Amino acid sequence: MNNKGQTILDWIDERFPLTSTMKAHITEYYAPRNFNFWYFFGSLAMLVLVIQIVTGIFLTMNYKPDGTLNGAGLPVAFASVEYIMRDVAGGWIIRYMHSTGASMFFVVVYLHMFRGLIYGSYKQPRELIWVFGSLIFLCLMAEAFMGYLLPWGQMSFWGAQVIVNLFGSIPVIGPDLSVWIRGDFVVSDATLNRFFALHVIAVPLVLLALVVAHLVALHEVGSNNPDGVEIKKHKDPATGIPLDGIPFHPYYTVKDILGVAVFLVVFSAIVFFMPEMGGFFLEHPNFDPADPLKTPPHIAPVWYFTPFYAILRAIPSFLGTQVWGVLGMGAAVVLIALLPWLDKSPVKSIRYRGPKFKIMLTLFIISFIGLGTLGALPPTASRTLISQIFSVLYFAFFLGMPFYTKNDVGRTPVPERVTDTNGRRQLVFLVLVAVTVIGATLFAKLV
Ligand code: HEM
Repeated sequence: MNNKGQTILDWIDERFPLTSTMKAHITEYYAPRNFNFWYFFGSLAMLVLVIQIVTGIFLTMNYKPDGTLNGAGLPVAFASVEYIMRDVAGGWIIRYMHSTGASMFFVVVYLHMFRGLIYGSYKQPRELIWVFGSLIFLCLMAEAFMGYLLPWGQMSFWGAQVIVNLFGSIPVIGPDLSVWIRGDFVVSDATLNRFFALHVIAVPLVLLALVVAHLVALHEVGSNNPDGVEIKKHKDPATGIPLDGIPFHPYYTVKDILGVAVFLVVFSAIVFFMPEMGGFFLEHPNFDPADPLKTPPHIAPVWYFTPFYAILRAIPSFLGTQVWGVLGMGAAVVLIALLPWLDKSPVKSIRYRGPKFKIMLTLFIISFIGLGTLGALPPTASRTLISQIFSVLYFAFFLGMPFYTKNDVGRTPVPERVTDTNGRRQLVFLVLVAVTVIGATLFAKLV
């Protein structure tokens, strides 16, 4: 840096910890040298968060949270989205980026969480990173749910109606609680206004604060890695730098750019060529304005909620109340946060775990994808039965974990230091992905 630049930097550093912060968190933050592609998804989640905030700000400039009818008999909110799509310069791309971003957020976060699961990243000493992550996931679900009401289409309206009604099944406080959430006896203009306020400011603020907490906790203990070994155990005695650590910048900033490039290709392909994604990202009934007098024949939440929705539907009412399904759905989310205490394995990474965990994880993946498929389809007797079987498997994965993980170690012992990439492992992985995609497609066709 030239003299002038250095002088400015010194001036700032005397008043604000700029250089020391950059060093501690970027240029001298030592991350394990064996990160693979699973480690792209944290930075991608941050990218999508930024995309959502920026496009959200521009959408808010022309969107109107108003459920009353305009001169043409259309709800003002619905018409304002149409206006953004047709008349606002660049409005269509901003809106498609935001709607695609919502789904891609869940794609990225589900993969990010799955990485945590396979490498045991939630285990000691990273419990708090996981707990903050689980809270982020909860906030993300609330954010997506409330955002979905805003276009005031048929699915927006009836989806919100169904979900808010669920709260009504809670004993004693339920009916009052659902009125309190809606601000009315049915989903109405009052509901739209409060969901707008929560969606554009309250929840994003909490989300941002949680992401900061998530990263502070991560940098306090340091990243885990695909081998699940602690790199801080072996440091260079002279410098104190972990022997298997490399500075986050430039190594992982450059690596993350590759992830960003691939992500943006996929993201752009969706935005430009298939923004509805066959009705998965933008559901077809939502192109009709909300009509409180006309219930759509089949109400299903957006794809990222369907695994939990399927669990809700799988649990029958009992003692005259539907609350068990609601409790089951809530438990399905809460159990994720409890993983650090449910997993008793002496080993973190799947690479060194025994067969029991691998079998249970495979069943869990099958049940999660299966539930996701079933939750999107209208229920039939056989689909309900399969959902029940998958729900049992889902809960067995978590509740059985303290037992099946206890002494479940693989044949290869955990190495002292991180290992190098292994081509065979990558081949096995690609085969597994192919089997999952083909299996899920066949299953969706069969049920
Ligand atoms: C807005 C959502 C989120 C953002 C922006 C975010 C961001 C990040 C970033 C940047 C990292 C470091 C890079 C990496 O390891 O990939 C990270 C690590 C981690 N995140 Fe997240 N995260 C989010 C959601 C979640 C969720 C929902 C969970 C789990 C419930 C979670 C669990 C973890 C764990 C366990 C690590 C440490 C991984 C390791 O060291 O192996 N995160 N996160």
